[in-house]
Amino acid sequence: MERLLVTGGAGFIGANFVRMASQRYRVTVVDKLTYAGNRASLPEGIDFVEGDICERPLIDELVSATDAVVHFAAESHNDNSLRDPSAFVQTNLVGTFTLLEAVRAHGTRLHHVSTDEVFGDLALGGTDAFTETTPYNPSSPYSATKAGSDHLVRAWVRSFGVAATISNCSNNYGPYQHVEKFIPRQITNILCGQPAKLYGTGAQVRDWIHVDDHNAAVLAILERGRLGETYNIGADQPQRTNKQVVETICDIMGGDYIHVADRPGHDQRYTMDATKIRRELGWRPRYTDLRAGLEQTIAWYADNRWWWEAGKGDVEKQYAQRGQ
Ligand code: NAD
Ligand code: TYD
Repeated sequence: MERLLVTGGAGFIGANFVRMASQRYRVTVVDKLTYAGNRASLPEGIDFVEGDICERPLIDELVSATDAVVHFAAESHNDNSLRDPSAFVQTNLVGTFTLLEAVRAHGTRLHHVSTDEVFGDLALGGTDAFTETTPYNPSSPYSATKAGSDHLVRAWVRSFGVAATISNCSNNYGPYQHVEKFIPRQITNILCGQPAKLYGTGAQVRDWIHVDDHNAAVLAILERGRLGETYNIGADQPQRTNKQVVETICDIMGGDYIHVADRPGHDQRYTMDATKIRRELGWRPRYTDLRAGLEQTIAWYADNRWWWEAGKGDVEKQYAQRGQ
């Protein structure tokens, strides 16, 4: 394997993946450059194609010229999916279908990047965790379309013998994440002299993982994973509420937070069991201290205002319209 086609490579996780993978592979990125894509997140020396994964002729051409595809492209924000789900159905379902038909036609290896949110949520206060065999029970238009895309990949593996793997990962944080998401929104609010904004009581629990740990796991699956298998990815952190995470950010930065309107249908708790990937592939997270990872991420946003400042006002205007 020498050449990789990375869909959605100008987004948060994709761009960090390209930075890691381009040290070993020749990388081509295909990205539509939606509001979430930014060419400036990508390193020099890779091939970039601006395009939509739903466009079959373009995808056919790109897939025919690569050894493997790593599929990150998606509409990725729950709050946006509550406002207008249509792009989520188009990109997450039709886009994944288009890619599957192309890899089927060309016999190309595919890794599909997905989320723990396909499993729905767990009750607060419990210690149970999602495993690879937990039944799918998605809550939002975002997670429902990601769940559907996972089912399409499984069906193409079983029905057509497509050489694919799937990973379901917990919430990522790190550099180059769009300021609409929880952690960068709070960091940039405080950098702008505004309070951090906590939905509802902030009792919800997310299972945070550094983006580099996620991407090292994706590379391990691509290189050594068993075809047709699904792997859960999570950093085995102690359970942390959103309130605790905001308090840590405020403590590091010297800021404050306020409570704002809750998200409708808000998932309560995600906790991942990543035993399988640890056991089968020997993968381990390197960022095991969330506070240290947050300090690194805060330093990146403070040093790279040019990357996020232009889009911040519009994002906050949209949140303000919903009392958030
Ligand atoms: P992101 O929103 O930051 O990036 C998505 C990228 O896809 C953008 O560059 C965008 O321009 C591109 N894109 C969107 N529609 C496209 C289309 N039709 N054709 C081509 N490109 C298109 O998302 P992210 O946070 O980097 O997430 C990447 C993947 O990882 C997604 O599949 C997401 O479901 C999954 N995931 C994310 C998280 C997380 O915490 N962010 C956790 C687990 C899994
Ligand atoms: P988010 O980053 O949108 O990821 P996801 O919905 O995929 O978990 O949100 C993470 C958590 O933070 C979620 O419980 C919602 C909450 N949240 C806030 O409290 N304030 C905010 O400003 C945002 C964007 C999210």
